[in-house]
Amino acid sequence: MPEVGGGSSAEPMIELRDVVKHYRTRGRGVVHAIDGVSLTVGHGEILGLVGESGCGKSTTARLLTALEQPTSGRITVAGRDVAGARGSGLRELRRTVQMVFQDPYASLDPRQRIGDAIGEVLRVHGLAGGKEDVRREVTRLLELVGLLPGIADRFPHQLSGGQRQRVGIARALAVRPQVLVLDEPVSALDVSVRAEIINLLARLRDELTLTYVFISHDLAMVRHLADRVAVMYLGQVVEEGPWEAVSDSATHPYTEALQAAVPVADPELERSRRTGSVRGEVPDAARPPAGCRFNPRCPLAEDVCREVAPELLPLGAAHRYACHVRQRERAGAPSGRGVS
Ligand SMILES: Nc1ncnc2c1ncn2[C@@H]1O[C@H](COP(=O)(O)OP(=O)(O)OP(=O)(O)O)[C@@H](O)[C@H]1O
Ligand code: SF4
Ligand SMILES: [Mg+2]
Repeated sequence: MPEVGGGSSAEPMIELRDVVKHYRTRGRGVVHAIDGVSLTVGHGEILGLVGESGCGKSTTARLLTALEQPTSGRITVAGRDVAGARGSGLRELRRTVQMVFQDPYASLDPRQRIGDAIGEVLRVHGLAGGKEDVRREVTRLLELVGLLPGIADRFPHQLSGGQRQRVGIARALAVRPQVLVLDEPVSALDVSVRAEIINLLARLRDELTLTYVFISHDLAMVRHLADRVAVMYLGQVVEEGPWEAVSDSATHPYTEALQAAVPVADPELERSRRTGSVRGEVPDAARPPAGCRFNPRCPLAEDVCREVAPELLPLGAAHRYACHVRQRERAGAPSGRGVS
């Protein structure tokens, strides 16, 4: 991976500062989907955002793409204040940041040919004029994502899952964005096709100097693409750093648990193993546990973990993690149980 981002350039491409997103619901009460997340992503960098179901990954994606507003906190993308964007500023922002979804089928009209689906985006944004113009640009976009121009005449159901995801990426690229937020873009695909899409995304990042936030529940998946990884648990970042640092020093017990859950070919087995090394289920985000949110499932939990929320503290220049026990071990303090 090239040396990019990580705060090296003057201004990051994406910045989240103390971002909170709470949903007031009737049945569940207040859902703490995101609780105090701060992250930066450099120009041309790929941040992998990882965690189990319900930890707030898609909520983060919706906030980054201005589909929703944060309850509090600050989000900037390409120097623009996302929360404050209105009118033309919001339109500009939506061109700068594009989302790629897990299931491109859901966002494609089954009665619309692929060429028309991509052409529509070009016309809406005023990026191509006449019919010939649109046709030429659609062909360019299809070729960019490794599809033959003939795909333009097909309907969504005539494509394979991998081809549909390539179309989803082509549609996102149609507005010439700087940032792609990819929400589990390969999770629904066959294992063999996943690698092809990951390779395509890596090539596009290099060719077009794109910045990605790549969301996955699977740490191993992120490994092939991400420069840095942020691990989320119940609405908070528990560990964040360069891929090698997070993978080699395995600092947070939750990251360790995700690492132990190496994906296997059988999806049923994969599901059961994903959480195999940690006890129980993720608690309801409407009732997050006091102290460290991971404490009811953590094999290392002590009394202090049930009372005091650990801070995200730096380990070296670019690596941060939030865990009382591991921070104490690193500091070389004598071990002891409980709060004094
Ligand atoms: N519109 C909403 N109203 C109420 N609660 C919501 C809403 N959207 C998300 N949530 C809740 O916020 C929490 C985070 O959800 P989110 O979809 O961001 O998780 P996720 O990490 O993307 O999960 P998954 O891996 O299943 O996609 C969950 O508890 C979810 O139920
Ligand atoms: S702070 Fe405590 S409960 Fe939380 S991860 Fe560390 S050891 Fe486990
Ligand atoms: Mg999600």
